[in-house]
Amino acid sequence: MSTSEVSGDVSGEVSGVEIELVDVVKRYPGQERAAVEGLNLTIPAGETVMFVGPSGCGKTTSLKMINRLIEPTSGTITIGGKDVRRQDADELRRGIGYVIQGGSLFPHMTVAANIALVPKMLGWSSARVEERVDELLDLVSLDAGQYRDRYPRELSGGQQQRVGVARGLAADPPVILMDEPFGAVDPITRQRLQDELMSIQAELRKTIVCVTHDIDEAVKLGDRILILREGAHVAQYDTPENILAAPANRFVEDFVGAGSALKQLTLTRVSEVEMRPTTTAVVGEPSAEVLRRAEQAGDTAVVVLDERRRPRDWVWLRDIADHDRVPPPRTEEILGVDRRATLNDALDDMLTSSHGGAIVTGQREEYLGVVDFAAVTAQIQRQTEQAEAATR
Ligand SMILES: Nc1ncnc2c1ncn2[C@@H]1O[C@H](COP(=O)(O)OP(=O)(O)O)[C@@H](O)[C@H]1O
Ligand SMILES: [Mg+2]
Repeated sequence: MSTSEVSGDVSGEVSGVEIELVDVVKRYPGQERAAVEGLNLTIPAGETVMFVGPSGCGKTTSLKMINRLIEPTSGTITIGGKDVRRQDADELRRGIGYVIQGGSLFPHMTVAANIALVPKMLGWSSARVEERVDELLDLVSLDAGQYRDRYPRELSGGQQQRVGVARGLAADPPVILMDEPFGAVDPITRQRLQDELMSIQAELRKTIVCVTHDIDEAVKLGDRILILREGAHVAQYDTPENILAAPANRFVEDFVGAGSALKQLTLTRVSEVEMRPTTTAVVGEPSAEVLRRAEQAGDTAVVVLDERRRPRDWVWLRDIADHDRVPPPRTEEILGVDRRATLNDALDDMLTSSHGGAIVTGQREEYLGVVDFAAVTAQIQRQTEQAEAATR
């Protein structure tokens, strides 16, 4: 997530630390060929590194050796310069966030209790723990008052995954390990969770190591991608841009797949496209005032915001004119795509909107503006021309 160039971004200070693997080998008992045959890797502080590769190539094994859920057969792993073997394994794990598919919440514990698990083990005061739980629920866009005391079974898959992320972040660890965190949710929820993770990461700048089997997810989330082949041999370790532009070998080429021109859509962020402001309104505001503002601005529709400035509806002027005051939103949904979403995501959104554009949101889903179809097309055109010029 090279978010530093994203305009209007509040990039936090790096809070992550470097992770280094030197000649790491893992041979499971009775295994003829080692699952990991000698992995050497440096993961820079504050970066997000995505592990991809075919099933069984050793991604999960490599990840779990970092927090010693699996003990390496040989080799050395250091986190922030400290050899993980020199620390008590439980203590080590309490200092590393771990997020897996489905969130793996304890079913008999409330959302708050699930999130509070590690901070409590670390002996935080109950006041501090409570404050932290609410702060994290807010960070993952769940209303604390509404969700704190619910049980996992009362949540959707996406909400459970959000709580799983909150739990991983709870004790503010410098390193977060994730294993196919968004594998179990539907595509739209997955996109939202990915966007949220990027937005959180822009603020926190942890070191994140994330396993995925989805190359598009890797391209979207990764500052770097590690492509592994069987035995955890490194096929390529580089930025998404470089991997797409210059696959190191046939294996990478096949893995990245055809249509890497289309993948450019996955590399480009909504924030890189020209955004325009559009007239906004709040529920209950006199319609006459809204109509006047919109007409002055030359808009034919207005975006309705809630009290937290989140876009809740996108309404044609003629529908506003039918009411004295701006009517409440027609659905429960919060509209829009995150500014870190890819053009691919934004196009999806545009195709289902009757406004020929997409609403863009920033931190905590606050409204930022609108990108329209023409602006996206212009951006794609520019990139295609640049790519062609580069290969000429
Ligand atoms: N607990 C285990 N015992 C024995 N073999 C295992 C164990 N876990 C994984 N393996 C084997 O190690 C290899 C790598 O597995 P894994 O790290 O889970 O791959 P990936 O996450 O890339 O799918 C596979 O051949 C798998 O069958
Ligand atoms: Mg795995």
